[in-house]
Amino acid sequence: MADLLTPVLSANWDAERAWTLDSYEQSGGYAALKKALTQQPDSLIELVKDSGLRGRGGAGFPTGMKWGFIPQGDGKPHYLVVNADESEPGTCKDIPLMMATPHTLVEGVIISSFAIRASHAFIYVRGEVLHVVRRLQRAVQEAYLAGHIGKDIHGSGYDLEVVVHAGAGAYICGEETALLDSLEGRRGQPRLRPPFPAVAGLYACPTVINNVESIASVPCIVDKGAEWFGSMGTEKSRGMTLYSLSGHVKRPGQYEAPLGITLRELLALAGGVRDGHELKFWTPGGSSTPLLTDEHLDVPLDYEGVAAVKSMLGTKALQIFDETTCVVRAVLRWTEFYKHESCGKCTPCREGTWWLVQMLERLEQGDGSEQDLELLLDQCDNILGRSFCALGDGATSPITSSIEYFRDEYVRHLTERGCPFDPHKTTLFETVGAQ
Ligand SMILES: Cc1cc2nc3c(=O)[nH]c(=O)nc-3n(C[C@H](O)[C@H](O)[C@H](O)COP(=O)(O)O)c2cc1C
Ligand code: SF4
Repeated sequence: MADLLTPVLSANWDAERAWTLDSYEQSGGYAALKKALTQQPDSLIELVKDSGLRGRGGAGFPTGMKWGFIPQGDGKPHYLVVNADESEPGTCKDIPLMMATPHTLVEGVIISSFAIRASHAFIYVRGEVLHVVRRLQRAVQEAYLAGHIGKDIHGSGYDLEVVVHAGAGAYICGEETALLDSLEGRRGQPRLRPPFPAVAGLYACPTVINNVESIASVPCIVDKGAEWFGSMGTEKSRGMTLYSLSGHVKRPGQYEAPLGITLRELLALAGGVRDGHELKFWTPGGSSTPLLTDEHLDVPLDYEGVAAVKSMLGTKALQIFDETTCVVRAVLRWTEFYKHESCGKCTPCREGTWWLVQMLERLEQGDGSEQDLELLLDQCDNILGRSFCALGDGATSPITSSIEYFRDEYVRHLTERGCPFDPHKTTLFETVGAQ
């Protein structure tokens, strides 16, 4: 089983003081930067295109193609922005990576900025994780002192400034255009597109925004080549990636494996579902991706495989729930999160997520009728595809998929006048009456 793992980004996470420049350089770190600086920026973009690297932040957009959209010779400043906001429920890969080996990201930032001809790069990191902010700041400082960042990097004539910017803790600021507004000092709300960030991004200049893992994957591609990267994964979803397993699993954590591995294989690596229990439902890529069940254990976890079963690979955040979990309650908790994090810019999401919570609260407490399930689905239908950004769409995913797979459990709440998983079965009427 262990040979299913392909530790590349996580290869040195256990090394002595892995986060330091010394430790990183001892394991070959910054060799890829020196190699990259001898090449033409355009050939680096071609290399990343050839590797087939797809964005690891959720949507799986080809990274090299995104870089290729940056106009060249336009005389404007270009920017690289790293999305290190990681707030999707269940997602826990970027933060461990930045804690363990921040220089993997910093080296990726320098190479990627050189490729797109940017002289300023920003790492927008989730502000609540102060320990990560400090670790990144120190890594950037070390890289400056070693001459990896700054003026005339290693005599190449290339200048780069790198800024670590802490966000203020809003999930919406992970959405790339809201992130740009936040970085510019405004309230973080998504922007209308077009223009896309590649044309008018940060300070209205051409900007590439990539996820931490996408950028951290660049040094190994420069070092070992596109063919090596493509030798892992599947034809359209190439390379290795970080899968995060959490919840009712014996050994939760990050498992780096080729794209296309299955949950059955990952669970075997993680010791399986906790003793005496069995898998009930799981998310393939965080709570914004439609739920799957035990019938999907052998689905290849790549972009195409998960899409074929009407879900999304997303951030590869595999949250595992066993038969003791009430699916209605879990979905209600996620929906409360979306309601809280809705930025309020558009009506379907701002009002709709509020209504979704009202409906789910009642259903969870066994109040209402089966017709309310249709009303709930209708509300989802009025949000999906009608919201300004993907937060609204994502809020409907756990609801519609849970009703598809667990309609009986919703109905049981109504027939039993309360949650079958709750020994006290408090109904809404009793709750209100008690106040
Ligand atoms: C509500 C919302 C939150 C998001 N949060 C993140 C995040 O924390 N980190 C991230 O990389 N992408 C996040 N994204 C996706 C980004 O908008 C964007 O697609 C991504 O940063 C692009 O990087 P990639 O091409 O390397 O995947 C989020 C999207 C939405 C709609
Ligand atoms: S969908 Fe929600 S988060 Fe996105 S712009 Fe509309 S209100 Fe804001």
